[in-house]
Amino acid sequence: MSLQISINGQLVPKEDAKISVFDHGLLYGDGVFEGMRSYAGKIFKLDDHLDRLWDSAQAICLEIPMPREEMAEHCKATLAANNIIDGYIRLIVTRGAGSLGLDPNRCSNPQVIIIADKISLYPAEYYEHGLHLVTASTIRNHPAALNPRIKSLNYLNNIIAKMEGLQAGCVEALMLNHKGDVAECTGDNVFIVNKGVLSTPSTDSGILEGITRNAVLEIADQLGIPTRQATLTRHDLFVADECFLTGSAAEVVPVVQLDNRTIGDGKPGPITKRLLEAFHKLVRQ
Ligand SMILES: Cc1ncc(COP(=O)(O)O)c(C=O)c1O
Repeated sequence: MSLQISINGQLVPKEDAKISVFDHGLLYGDGVFEGMRSYAGKIFKLDDHLDRLWDSAQAICLEIPMPREEMAEHCKATLAANNIIDGYIRLIVTRGAGSLGLDPNRCSNPQVIIIADKISLYPAEYYEHGLHLVTASTIRNHPAALNPRIKSLNYLNNIIAKMEGLQAGCVEALMLNHKGDVAECTGDNVFIVNKGVLSTPSTDSGILEGITRNAVLEIADQLGIPTRQATLTRHDLFVADECFLTGSAAEVVPVVQLDNRTIGDGKPGPITKRLLEAFHKLVRQ
């Protein structure tokens, strides 16, 4: 049977899942989205994802055309309709169809699209041996332009940075902010461990406040690992003992090299491994 997609609450086969070519989500990237995972049939941190979706929509003055509880039910129903137990859910709200001009007031009917599918972002070897990163020359959006805290459909600067990474043979790229400090990767947050302390850029470094990031900070607290949300530079990453990335799709993945500098001893570190293990336990609780 073909994958069932939810469009405005109606499940339709993927061949029939269509929206208007006049939708400003397509024409201008005008809309918001979430990427979530389900483990053992349960959507991990669904409430946090819905909070962030509503916050993103609020920031771009987009009214989500259904109540939160209904949205949660449609996410669950889309998973169930596709018999997905461990999978990935992409939730999109577009501005809706409008005219050929930027004016969002000329759009009507924001579209709610839910796709549930299987995902495997990186090969297993990266989780075991760690991945290599390069720093992209493309910076993360200036918060006064498009605040990275908004998870909008406009991901073009991250895509350009991702291409830079891929051209250099890396599956992820580090992005700096407009001040030259570390922000995050193209689709993941970044962490380092130095002398036993876990650090990650603070939200005012121009990042998406990742839900996996927050879960890992909570896990670290529970494990008694000291944490810090701070300004980080590339130098901090070069000299770190350990480094790893977090994201709903990526989960927790170790990093062992940045811009040809080996991080720590070039292997996933002990704190990274502890956090990775604890994360895998948490998602199945
Ligand atoms: C730019 C960016 N940073 C970080 C993340 C990680 O966020 P989360 O853990 O909520 O998936 C994502 C994932 O969507 C992202 O796109």
